[in-house]
Formats: sequence, C-alpha cells, structure tokens
Amino acid sequence: MSKTTNQPARRDSFASSFGVLVAMAGSAVGLGNLWRFPYLVGQNGGAAFILIYLGFVILAGLPVMLSEFVIGRRSQASARSAFQKLAPGSHWGITGILGVICCVCILAFYSVVGGWGTEYLYKAVCFDFTNGDAENLKTLFSTLSASVWRPLVGHTIFLAMTAGVVIAGVKNGIEKFSKVMMPLLFLIIIAIAIRSMTLPGSGPGVSYMFRPDWSKVTSQTFLAALGQAFFSLSLGSCMVVTYASYVKKEANIVSLCAQTAVADTAFAILAGCAIMPAVFAFGISPGEGPNLVFVTLPHIFSQMPLGGIIAIIFFLALLLAALTSSISILEVVVAFCIEEFKMKRKAAVALVFAVLWVLGCLCSLSFGPLSDFKIIGKTIFDFFDFVSADVLMLIGGMLAVLFVGWKLGKKVVVDELSNSGKLHIPGWLLNIILFLIRFVAPAALLAIAIFQIHE
Ligand code: PHE
Repeated sequence: MSKTTNQPARRDSFASSFGVLVAMAGSAVGLGNLWRFPYLVGQNGGAAFILIYLGFVILAGLPVMLSEFVIGRRSQASARSAFQKLAPGSHWGITGILGVICCVCILAFYSVVGGWGTEYLYKAVCFDFTNGDAENLKTLFSTLSASVWRPLVGHTIFLAMTAGVVIAGVKNGIEKFSKVMMPLLFLIIIAIAIRSMTLPGSGPGVSYMFRPDWSKVTSQTFLAALGQAFFSLSLGSCMVVTYASYVKKEANIVSLCAQTAVADTAFAILAGCAIMPAVFAFGISPGEGPNLVFVTLPHIFSQMPLGGIIAIIFFLALLLAALTSSISILEVVVAFCIEEFKMKRKAAVALVFAVLWVLGCLCSLSFGPLSDFKIIGKTIFDFFDFVSADVLMLIGGMLAVLFVGWKLGKKVVVDELSNSGKLHIPGWLLNIILFLIRFVAPAALLAIAIFQIHE
C-alpha cells in the first residue's frame, strides 16, 4: 500500500496530541451525552441499559473508531477520497459519501436541539425558571418547539456559531476552541453531579443508575444501546476519518481512541449522575423521553437551592458540548467540499451553512406547521434522527470495519497502530484488536440488523 506522505501543503492539521484528544473528545461529548443518553437510560431501565451500552462501546464502538482512525490517518484525506486513496479503482468511496450524507442528516436536527439549548440558556440567564411548576414548563417547551419563528432564531444562531469556528480552520478554530471548552465542561458536569447526588432523597436515583433492573430490557433496548454508542462516539459518519486525516504520523492511535472512549463514557455517566438523582429527588418520571432535559431539569432547578445559577451553568455546558460536536459534523461536510470540489474553506462553509439552514428549518417546523407531513410515518425531525443514528451510522460503521479488517488487511493495520513498529504495542493486544475489527464488531452489527428486520 503506498503511503501518502506528499500531502498538499495547504492541508491543515492539529498542532499537538492533546489538541487531537480534546477535539475527538469534544466531538464525542455532546447532546448525545446530555440530552439523548439520560432519557434513553430513563426509558430503558437504568443500570441495565448502561451495562449493555458499555458492552457495545467495547465490542463494536472501539473497533469501529480504531478502523476509522486508521483510514483517516493513513490516507490524510477527507471522507470519500480517503477510501479511494487506500483502495484505488474500487467502489469503497461510496462509504465516504454515505458518511457525508449522514453528517448532513445529523446536523439538520442537531442544530434544532442546539437552538433549543441556546433559547434555554437565554431563559436561564433571565431567571425564567425560578417559579416553574412542571405543567407550566411542559407547556413552555411544547409552545416553544411548536412555534414558527423563535426556534428558527435559535437554530440560526447555533448554526452560525458552528460555522464561525469551522471557518477559522482546524488548528486555529476547532483545536483552540476545544482546548478551552472540554476541561471547562468536565468541571461543570462534575459540580452539577455532586450537587444532584447530595440532594435529600437522591438515593433511589443513584441506585437507578448503578443497580440493574433486567426486567425492563427488551430487544429494542439492544438497538437503542448500540445506536446510542455509535451516536455518542461519533462513529460511522466519517467524522473520525476526517479528524484523523489532520493527525500527524507520530500519534498513538490506540491510546487516543481508548482515551476518547473513556472520556465520552465517563461524561455520559456523569451526566446521568447529574440528572437521575435529581429526577428521583423531585418525584419526576425518569421515562419522560426527549423532553427530559428541557422540561424536567428546569423544574428541578426551580426547586433547588441556588437553582437559578445552576440552570445557567447547566445550559451553558449543554450549549458548549453541543458546539464542540456540531463543529466536527460540519467539518466532515466542509472538508469533503474543499477536497472534492476544490472550494475555498469560506465558500464551502457558506454553501453547507445554506443547505443545513434550510433542512434545519424543516426539522424545526415539523414540531409545528409541518407536523402532519410524514416520511415513512415519521416527522421530518424524527426521520433525520432515525436515518442517521439508526441506519447510516450503523452501515457506515460496518463498512469501516470490513474495509480495514478485510480489504486493508492485518499488515497495514499493525503498521498503522504501531507507527511502523516505532511504538511497542504488545502482540496480544494487536491480536485482540484485529479479532474485534474482523469478527466481533461485524457480527454484533449484523445481529442487531437482523434483530431489527425481524421485529
Ligand atoms: N457524538 C456527538 C454527541 O454525542 C454527536 C455526533 C455524531 C458528532 C456524529 C459527530 C458525528 O452529541
């Protein structure tokens, strides 16, 4: 396999390995951890869901992440051309195109949720939640999401902030932003988790998080856990391929991927510890669904000592976490446009912004005037969520492990993971990784797909 060391000089890159780690963790930690994970835990029986989720992170998530990293770093190219460079003359480039389409689908609805986050931060700063009772807050959320203009303003602001960071580039935008935001985010979530776990009556919430109740587990739980592991670790969307293409040859791929997975999982558990104990302490149902963060939390904050301040800090964390993820999603599409259509970065960002703005508006309006418009029985918002997290990411992940495990083959994988023998990765570890990439991850993904089709 030819090495692609003569990359064009204009190609941006990360400046340090810490920069790569915070950017990868920044992409992984996002609304998936603060919005999706807690409500899925609540709907799927708490600790039992968490254990299944952890199993999928190790058996399917890590092998896919390592595979995408190998593809990106070895090719030093964006989504489609990465596959094309490593397997010239083949059709593997389609995997990259699917990744780009997946990112467009994700950002379309992600930006709407990010917009709600922006609106809720504004409300928190105005101390709007101090007297909120649960019913009022439910009405507040459904009125906001169903109205026409207000959520579009939030969506536009969120997308514009994302575009602003991506225009500045990899080193000066993404890396600098993530370096400041990620440590700050961890501090904030740890502080809120401690506050929540020390509330009177938080005990049942803590055991809900750590004592499995297997009776709630159904076949749906497995799909939800796998989809969530992929969504949370940003897999199957060529995001890891794209970031890895900006990583220098000296970086240790195994340790970077392991640290990213640990950071993301730790953050998800911390988010659960911030939310569940408080949910139980204030007698709210944990199975509330996608509203959990936007309806339940403001109610909890309104009853907590210092709740007004905590609400500001929480929604600030939510917004920052969402931004470090949305920039990574936008970067996949922008890098694709720059390399495939030879566009300038600014022009590429402008074009993608315009397309996503329109799609995001449609997602947002699907809570109001367009709520009756259905695609395969789903609203536009739910359709984009389903197509990306439950279909395209899983297909993309499957193709990535098959490509690396069977097309590139053992020699290339060992060469990449050990930096051509310069790093000492024990032989047994390499064998386990290869076994996971070649057999375990594809089998897990296939099993879930068959399960799903049979339902
Ligand atoms: N991992 C991000 C989150 O948890 C979402 C994401 C998906 C980011 C795919 C990039 C690519 O919110």
